[in-house]
Amino acid sequence: MTPSEYIKKVPKAELHLHIEGSFEPELMFEIAQRNKIEIPYESIEELKKAYQFGNLQDFLDIYYAGANVLIHEQDFYDLTMDYFKQCAKENVVHAEIMFDPQTHTKRGVEFSTVINGIQRAREEAEKQFGISSLLIMSYLRHLSEDDAFETLQQSLPYKHLIKAVGLDSSEKGNPPSKFQKVFEESIKEGYIPVAHAGEEGPAEYIYEALDLLKIVRIDHGNNGLSDPKLVERLVEEKIGLTVCPLSNTALRNVDQINNHPLKKMLDLGLKVTVNSDDPAYFGGYITENYLSCIDALDLSLKNVKQLVRNSFEYSFLSDKKKEEFI
Ligand code: ADE
Ligand code: ZN
Repeated sequence: MTPSEYIKKVPKAELHLHIEGSFEPELMFEIAQRNKIEIPYESIEELKKAYQFGNLQDFLDIYYAGANVLIHEQDFYDLTMDYFKQCAKENVVHAEIMFDPQTHTKRGVEFSTVINGIQRAREEAEKQFGISSLLIMSYLRHLSEDDAFETLQQSLPYKHLIKAVGLDSSEKGNPPSKFQKVFEESIKEGYIPVAHAGEEGPAEYIYEALDLLKIVRIDHGNNGLSDPKLVERLVEEKIGLTVCPLSNTALRNVDQINNHPLKKMLDLGLKVTVNSDDPAYFGGYITENYLSCIDALDLSLKNVKQLVRNSFEYSFLSDKKKEEFI
């Protein structure tokens, strides 16, 4: 069997997916219409043409604008269900889904509206497709730590539905140290800490995420490669890295997929996984991410098997559940 044939069929897990980043233009137009909200694009095609990014911030501006049409619980349900339907097609059997409450609460949408819609879809996906999932509540790092504290408070009635906390949005100039106290408090509440680090920011931010936020998994982490001591530590401490190849090229962190460091990371013994990040914006869901790397980096079947195995091993599933898949 070729690596490409294998990856299309094999049960796999996705560990880095922003639910707001799975918002396909078709659904965005549909929801905008029913909520009577204007989108500044004439058509789906015109909107898609705007998906050309020079860096992370270019993308985030469009991503937050897109999320503006999400108002009602049903909108969050539809958004999440769309993603699960794609998971079912690609044999993603477990998904660890990030959501950004502040993107919505800042616009006057209640925390409960967001989480109830997402939760209903999770239950439906488990029932209909047998897909397991868990939630990572991500703090927006361009906002203040006080704001993140407020979000933490809002989340507490729903603590049983949320597994982990994350840190996303504009990385440069917003180091992990800015959120040390809110992560400390989040851990006390029982949330597992993760953070985006080393996507656009320096290796120093990865050290901060590890040492100050006590994170157990890194989202992206590519820029850690510039520091051999850090690489050694990430290998030694078995820190999972949720790498997103098509995101990295779309946001110009890597100039072209042939130059993506995924294979190098694997060869160094880093605990890498492949993920889609914001698939509606970056040109492909998880399988497409794998296929692009298989093609461009000449990944072997052994490499791909390792990546799939990592996707379960570095998930937040219980050890017993992991055993079912590994
Ligand atoms: N929010 C959604 N996608 C993101 C990414 N790739 N980096 C940081 N924040 C994000
Ligand atoms: Zn991300």
